Amino acid sequence: MTLPTYPSTHRNRDPILSVLKKYLPQNGKIIETASATGEHIFYFAKKFPNLIWQPSDKSKNLFWVIKERSKKLKNIKEPVCIDLTSIEKAHLQLEFSVLLNINMIHIAPWKACEGMFRFSKHVIAQGGFIYLYGPYKEKYKKLARSNTEFDLQLRSQNPEWGIRFLEDVVRLGDNFGFELFEKYEMPANNLSIIFKKVN
Ligand SMILES: C[S@@+](CC[C@H](N)C(=O)[O-])C[C@H]1O[C@@H](n2cnc3c(N)ncnc32)[C@H](O)[C@@H]1O
Repeated sequence: MTLPTYPSTHRNRDPILSVLKKYLPQNGKIIETASATGEHIFYFAKKFPNLIWQPSDKSKNLFWVIKERSKKLKNIKEPVCIDLTSIEKAHLQLEFSVLLNINMIHIAPWKACEGMFRFSKHVIAQGGFIYLYGPYKEKYKKLARSNTEFDLQLRSQNPEWGIRFLEDVVRLGDNFGFELFEKYEMPANNLSIIFKKVN
C-alpha cells in the first residue's frame, strides 16, 4: 500500500537528522507534535532504536497512516491526539527529553506556538530540548523571495497563519523557561532552532 507522504520530507529529513542527533540523549523518550503522516518520526525512530518515540497531532485523520508506517518498529508508541491550543490535563503528566515540532508554527495560529512552549514547560525534563524546524523572519535580515511569497500565500489562506519572527518566538520561549541554544541554517531557507529548558 502506498501511504500518504509530504514530498518535502524526503528532502529535509537527513538535514534535520544531522542537527537533531546532536541533541538526542542515549536513552529516553522523544515526543513529536504535529506529526501528520509520521514520516519524520518513523525515519528518526529507525535510526535511533534505543529511544522511545511518541507521535502526536491535533487531528486524528492521519493516525492510521502513522500506525501503518510504524507497525514494524517497536520503539514508536501509538499516536496521541494533542492540540497545542488546548492541552488536556492528562497529557501534562507525560515526560520527555526532547520535543520536535517540524513545519507547524507558521501553519497554525500564534496560540499554537504559545501552547507548544506551555506544553513543553510541563513535559520536558530539566536540561531537555525543543527542536523547531521551518521558515522564519528575522528583524535585520532580508527575507528570501520564496519565503516572502510563501508568507503571503499562508496569510491569504488564513489570516492567523504566517511566517513568524524568530525574535518573537525566542521571547515567548524565554517566558516559559526555554533559552535559545542554537540556530542552524537549513536547505530551502529554513532554520533549525534549538531551545534548552533552563528553568
Ligand atoms: C504542514 S503539516 C507538517 C507536518 C509534518 N510535521 C511535516 O513537516 O511534514 C502541519 C501539521 O500541524 C498540525 N497542527 C496544526 N495546528 C496544530 C495544533 N494546534 N496542535 C497540534 N498540531 C497542529 C496539523 O494537523 C498538521 O498535521
